[in-house]
Amino acid sequence: MASLTTHVDGLTLPNPFVIASGPPGTNLPVIQRAFREGWGAVIAKTVSLDAGKVKNVSPRYAKLYAADRREVIGWENIELISDRAFETWLEEFRRCKDAHPEGVLIASIMEEYRRDAWVEIVERCEAAGVDGFELNFSCPHGLPERRMGSAMGQDPDLLEEVCGWVMGAARRPVWAKMTPNITHIEEPSRAALRGGCTGISAINTIRSVMGVNLETLRPEPCVEGYSTPGGYSSKAIRPIALRMVMEIAQLIRKEYPGRSLSGIGGIESGEDAAQFILLGADTVQVCTGVMKFGYECVRGMKEQLLAFMEGHGFESLGDFRGRSLAYFTTHGDLVRRQAERKQAGRLASDQDWAAEDFVRQSDALAGE
Ligand SMILES: Cc1cc2nc3c(=O)[nH]c(=O)nc-3n(C[C@H](O)[C@H](O)[C@H](O)COP(=O)(O)O)c2cc1C
Repeated sequence: MASLTTHVDGLTLPNPFVIASGPPGTNLPVIQRAFREGWGAVIAKTVSLDAGKVKNVSPRYAKLYAADRREVIGWENIELISDRAFETWLEEFRRCKDAHPEGVLIASIMEEYRRDAWVEIVERCEAAGVDGFELNFSCPHGLPERRMGSAMGQDPDLLEEVCGWVMGAARRPVWAKMTPNITHIEEPSRAALRGGCTGISAINTIRSVMGVNLETLRPEPCVEGYSTPGGYSSKAIRPIALRMVMEIAQLIRKEYPGRSLSGIGGIESGEDAAQFILLGADTVQVCTGVMKFGYECVRGMKEQLLAFMEGHGFESLGDFRGRSLAYFTTHGDLVRRQAERKQAGRLASDQDWAAEDFVRQSDALAGE
């Protein structure tokens, strides 16, 4: 029987499915619900020392529907980090670990560019019993004037320095969560690894404008007639997340072997998870999927992942982690490989090649 048990950075998870920081980990009752439903770990909604400065607005979500108008394929939010008091969170972390000592609870933290603030938040969360940290360097909206979130994550020098502060204080594993709103995801990832972080999480949401209402001419989500760019999530972002996870996995394997990788972005099924693991992820995180389908969706995801593994004869996640990385190459190399196939006579002429390509593309379109 295949096993989903996941060993990462000294932690043991019953399965690789992790609640991503966001509404599904917004307080103790929902975190406990996640553990009861069988999630492998929970990353709580991002906390900071001074929640009084966090001011949310409403509405703060806007959705992109598929053509059938039923399925949500993209989700934009302008939600900030948790606006609940830090002391309340510490109490809930303690109670959570008392009730679920075996449950892996990770604190997502975000602070200003001040060493004492990062050290304080780490030390107090550890004293409350959390099993690890995720550093939110990636919230795409709000608080840039305090150089928090993605304002920090877009500056590799700042990132490396802050990771160094955290690693000087933390005794538990630390994952740095990347913003995708940058040209080369390897640059901030490398900075976080240089700063000593045990792992990388990727990706957070993609900076976006959901749309413009053609009656009111106002952008969405619309707050008092105005809007601001937000963060895009859900299945529409999965191809971008897979690309970034692949690039980070290549970096880790080449320059920082042994560091961990948590894949995030549009994961809704066991098959989605399998693809992230094939591209090098140790764990997979789900946020919008839980908002769409409820906490119980983890049951189907586990079954689907196990079915994939059994279909291939894989007994553990390690049997296929990173297996598909070997199949990425340069475009020039693709051209060379194709030329070799033509030369070997398997494609008689350029016309045959063009015809075969057309048929392949038509079949793909017909299958959609
Ligand atoms: C409404 C909402 C709130 C979020 N809040 C946080 C947050 O507080 N901290 C954080 O690190 N990520 C936050 N995220 C980002 C998610 O953790 C995740 O990185 C992103 O949504 C992509 O994954 P998904 O497609 O599974 O949602 C939030 C996402 C959404 C949709």
